[in-house]
Amino acid sequence: MNTDRTFLEEGNRVFFELLNRLGGFCDNPSTPEARQLLSDIRAFLFERFEYEKKIMISRNSEDTWLHHEQHELMFNTLSWSIEMAQRDEMVCRSLYHYLDDWFRFHTENLDRTLCEPDSESLVFGLHSTGSGTS
Ligand SMILES: [Fe+2]
Repeated sequence: MNTDRTFLEEGNRVFFELLNRLGGFCDNPSTPEARQLLSDIRAFLFERFEYEKKIMISRNSEDTWLHHEQHELMFNTLSWSIEMAQRDEMVCRSLYHYLDDWFRFHTENLDRTLCEPDSESLVFGLHSTGSGTS
């Protein structure tokens, strides 16, 4: 297993752990814990996207622009939504589901290509189990 794949898979675990914890706080998103989780998720994604950008640059792959653009759109949406999510339960839940859906789709369809030729799925039994997200 290559180093990039190992790093990305470990990152997937960390991301869903943070996201699941956030799901448990969406009933009261203005708590310091919820605020910290949103901040931690944002920081995690910033570092993750920077790491992926280094891989893309080193490999000069054809879909680099598209992949980077997806990161930018997602990060901007997250940054824009965080403050509202801290004030509104419904926004927090919507953000939770958006992050869950986006990350699963993105990892499976774009991040996976960063690990070629070892292109086995990176989504490996990760389940969101946070409460208060229905
Ligand atoms: Fe990515």
